[in-house]
Amino acid sequence: MEKKNTYKIAVLPGDGIGPEIVAEAVKVLGAVAEQTGVTIEFEYGRIGGIAIDTDGTPLPEETLEIAKRADAVLLGAVGGPKWDQNPGHLRPETGLLGIRKALGLFANIRPATMHPSLVDASSLKPEVVSGVDLIVVRELTGGIYFGEKKRYAAADGGEVAEDLLIYHEAEIERILRVAFELARKRSRRLVSVDKANVLESSRLWRKVAERVAADYPDVELSHMLVDSCAMQLVRAPKQFDVIVTENMFGDILSDQAAMLTGSIGMLASASLAEGSFGLYEPVHGSAPDIAGKGIANPLATILSAAMLLRHSLGLDEAAAAVEQAVWAVLEAGHRTGDIAQDKSKALGTVEIGQLVLNELAKRTVKK
Ligand code: IPM
Ligand code: MG
Repeated sequence: MEKKNTYKIAVLPGDGIGPEIVAEAVKVLGAVAEQTGVTIEFEYGRIGGIAIDTDGTPLPEETLEIAKRADAVLLGAVGGPKWDQNPGHLRPETGLLGIRKALGLFANIRPATMHPSLVDASSLKPEVVSGVDLIVVRELTGGIYFGEKKRYAAADGGEVAEDLLIYHEAEIERILRVAFELARKRSRRLVSVDKANVLESSRLWRKVAERVAADYPDVELSHMLVDSCAMQLVRAPKQFDVIVTENMFGDILSDQAAMLTGSIGMLASASLAEGSFGLYEPVHGSAPDIAGKGIANPLATILSAAMLLRHSLGLDEAAAAVEQAVWAVLEAGHRTGDIAQDKSKALGTVEIGQLVLNELAKRTVKK
């Protein structure tokens, strides 16, 4: 990757706890910039409910412009009860889907890693989940999410709704390649998830997966039906390393995988375009119930910033240092309320963020 001295990051805090958690991640990126001597310029934009209120649309043109001139995007979360009854084009989620499509962010990478000190946070038995370390690679700009939608009255008077599930071979191939490349860097096992016993799009998916597999003889490809995968994820999650699947199956399975670790507040994600550009956001939502209280867990956003440093800025060492700083804070027993065993000792968003900054300062980070 081309190394630069100045990077631009588009910051889209969004709704609910978004602004609070993003603020901590921005501080961490600022500290990394200082340590490595690179300049990071932050440019802020609106997305989701805040944009609906301010600009009358969940994805203003200006926000897209800010994102397009950046090297990467850091996003908080969108949505809240205030906008839940809005029509489709005025929903916060529409802004998120819109930015994914407009920026070509077709590859969604969602790691679910069980950190040893958080084993007790899972709802599953420790022996089932300890050591879980898997990644869901979700196709993000195709399938039923983006197919044509219709509502109309049937001849007999009842209402009918349609959502078209459509995949082009090329869309399947490019996401499979991302997954194969990732599997190659890990345990060299890839599970492709589909519903090929029922869906034609899944049969095409499987055929393309087999074809692409020929280019990766060192990676062992297997296929699993999505219902079976859902079952295996809670029965024996350690069998998985890299999972690749289409948009909607990936939406569902990535939440399930996230919860194996017991702490959706800890999980980062990357949505990647071709090349090094990407959008980085925590897997969790905007948590409107705790917004503004200063108690949200900023670690998933900080870990998303680490993914940003690695993938979009090529600052691998800094990324690793941020991740180690987060683990060190957890190992020292510090927790926000969502993952604390003893809620009375829970720390706030800014306090946890500061502890990460302290840990980061102890590590020397080179460019
Ligand atoms: C996700 C979310 C989104 C999705 C919603 C908010 C539109 O659930 O990123 O997983 O379904 O993709
Ligand atoms: Mg989801």
